[in-house]
Amino acid sequence: MSSPSQYRQLFDLTGRTAIVTGGSGILGRHFCRALAEFGAAVAVVDLEEAQASEFAAELSAECGVSCLGIGCDVSDPASVNAMVERVQAELGEVRILHNNAATKSSDLNAFFERFEHYSHETWREVMAVNLDGMFLVARAVGARMAAHGLGGSIIQTASIYGVLAPDQRIYEGSWYLDREINTPAVYTTSKAAVIGLTRHLATYWAEKGIRVNSLTPAGMESGQNTTFKERYSARVPLGRMGQPAELVGALVFLASDASSYMTGQNLIVDGGLSAW
Ligand SMILES: NC(=O)c1ccc[n+]([C@@H]2O[C@H](COP(=O)([O-])OP(=O)(O)OC[C@H]3O[C@@H](n4cnc5c(N)ncnc54)[C@H](O)[C@@H]3O)[C@@H](O)[C@H]2O)c1
Repeated sequence: MSSPSQYRQLFDLTGRTAIVTGGSGILGRHFCRALAEFGAAVAVVDLEEAQASEFAAELSAECGVSCLGIGCDVSDPASVNAMVERVQAELGEVRILHNNAATKSSDLNAFFERFEHYSHETWREVMAVNLDGMFLVARAVGARMAAHGLGGSIIQTASIYGVLAPDQRIYEGSWYLDREINTPAVYTTSKAAVIGLTRHLATYWAEKGIRVNSLTPAGMESGQNTTFKERYSARVPLGRMGQPAELVGALVFLASDASSYMTGQNLIVDGGLSAW
């Protein structure tokens, strides 16, 4: 007879060390908390160490695991290597990497500029984090996973706009972050590339027992104005935007042995948007 908890244990992350980049962000906080609640020791990695450390201390106290906040710029190879070495020294061999950091650049006006006037500097600045950052962190962590022989799970946050083109008609009158918004081409391009990187690494590292999957959220509600919410929701089969907490089940699934036969895939959490 099998035990009643036989399958529940598949989701258990006790004793595993995880890195979450962009861990202080809107979604990153939910991702870190979920991994910690399922037993992982989590390195909260983000630009500002003080903020990441404060959150990591909160998680350690509430979830009873060792968490660590580290300041790191994922677009800087030296910063990435130092971060991974510190995680390994303080929390042990990394078994889970959630490559999740992304940027809207240092200038929101430039980020949301129309394509005809888009600055090459802003394009490069966004790519340096959204794509190069994923490469640099996956390279540093994956090399160690391949060497320690324990296998691992790498999850990379893409976006529905890495899969579908944005419907330009929904943006008129749409505000967020105190300004009119759109989805710029650099964002869709960087996220499509993340999905390509995931597939490549999945086949490349399969023989090392390292699984690599993308997690694709669609529009999550985080302070957009009513016009945007209504226009966006009208396109979604479930009729609404998502809540950040609705992503964590997919993350824990991908991070854990529950998805042990899954690699190179893109798990889409979009309220059905891509189904029609
Ligand atoms: N929120 C959504 O609706 C949504 C939808 C689809 C995909 N996503 C993706 O989900 C992920 C998380 O998004 P979010 O909504 O939490 O965004 P967010 O801006 O709140 O979080 C991103 C985090 O990345 C950090 N970051 C930026 N540049 C960095 C760098 N160079 N080095 C290290 N950290 C850096 C930021 O400080 C921030 O904490 C992103 O990859 C985003 O593209 C979000």
